[in-house]
Amino acid sequence: PFPIYARLREEDPVHWSPSLKSWIISRYTDVRDLLLSDHLSVRRLMQFYSSLPPQDAALLSDIVKYLDLWLAFRDPPDHTRVRRILRHAFTPKAVDAMRPGIEEIVHHLLDQLEERQADRIDLIREFALLVPAYVIMDMLEVPREMLAEFKSWSDDMAVFIGGARNADDKYHRAARGCQKMSSYFREIINERSANPRPGFLMDLINARDEGDQLTEDELVATCILILFAGHETTTNLIGNASLLLLRHPDQLAALRADPALIDGAIEEVLRHDGPTNALVRVVAQDHEIEGRKLREGERVFVMINSANRDPRIFEDPDRFDIRRNPNRHLTFGQGIHVCLGARLAREEGRVAVLELIKRFPDLALDDEPPEWLDAMVPRGTRRLPVRLRG
Ligand code: HEM
Repeated sequence: PFPIYARLREEDPVHWSPSLKSWIISRYTDVRDLLLSDHLSVRRLMQFYSSLPPQDAALLSDIVKYLDLWLAFRDPPDHTRVRRILRHAFTPKAVDAMRPGIEEIVHHLLDQLEERQADRIDLIREFALLVPAYVIMDMLEVPREMLAEFKSWSDDMAVFIGGARNADDKYHRAARGCQKMSSYFREIINERSANPRPGFLMDLINARDEGDQLTEDELVATCILILFAGHETTTNLIGNASLLLLRHPDQLAALRADPALIDGAIEEVLRHDGPTNALVRVVAQDHEIEGRKLREGERVFVMINSANRDPRIFEDPDRFDIRRNPNRHLTFGQGIHVCLGARLAREEGRVAVLELIKRFPDLALDDEPPEWLDAMVPRGTRRLPVRLRG
């Protein structure tokens, strides 16, 4: 998409797309200013829900109940309240405490790859998908054996969230996935409340701000949100990092020689090929930008990955350079909704990439080319064929 982003930035930075019936915002300063503006709202769900025919609305009432409680879909003051409470669970200390668990997961997966003696593998399926899946399952106390079941529930729910089209039973699937997932989390939350045991889930249940706590429904919604927000994004961080490094052997060699470069390398992957191309907003109050008027109710795509390649901010923006400094990318968002899991995602990325290149010194791309996801929002590969032993 990058040549299109470049054209938009130069020719029409606040672009009205008739096919998407939405604004497309592509310059860094506009993206940042809009994310910081309280004229834009994240409550896009209700607009969609209220447009559904009654039988679909009835089917989806449960899923909408939970999504409506998601931090990511709430505006102040509801957002402010939930975010203040969640801050007490997502502390730097809590994330640091997860580091040994992340290392154990990464080592375990790499051990398995080593033992299997397979040379050609799909790095997404065999590694990049599994690291964040196991990290989140451990956080939320879902047994790792339930991976396949959990994945099918979340795929069913994603039919709704991801807006997949043209499936006759898509709302039935979404409703079923949500029902399974929410009752599962409700059970674990009740079990953990009755039998306290230290860990992230306990911290979440106990998180309190001036005496205020999350309700049981909010806890269930938050578990589902964490699962969605932290899984595919982090998979794409690990996948995109591997691909970029393998395509830039000089940078990979520099990183191997000096592993301290990993922090900069992860930031540069996040900038150059961030896992989320765009964020979506709805105009809550008329807003003027670059001489154009955004009107109440209109939808806005805020193009983060375009902002991250804006030559007004980044020198030679299409160059991948793990030593780039400064690197003020907008990949984790900006303002009140800025990613709560950024520290965790960076940690997962660092451990996964460093250990992978350490364990397989001859890692190389396979002749079979990677398959990119064909979607407007996520950026990453569906399949990334590599040779572990070169
Ligand atoms: C919000 C990106 C990983 C939890 C966000 C937002 C972005 C983002 C751009 C802002 C959304 C908006 O403004 O509409 C990413 C990327 C990740 C990542 C690129 C991986 C590389 C994670 C992880 C977790 C997480 C691992 C949790 C375990 C959240 C939550 C929010 C959020 C709860 C909502 C915050 C709010 O609305 O106040 N993320 N994320 N994210 N992220 Fe992440």
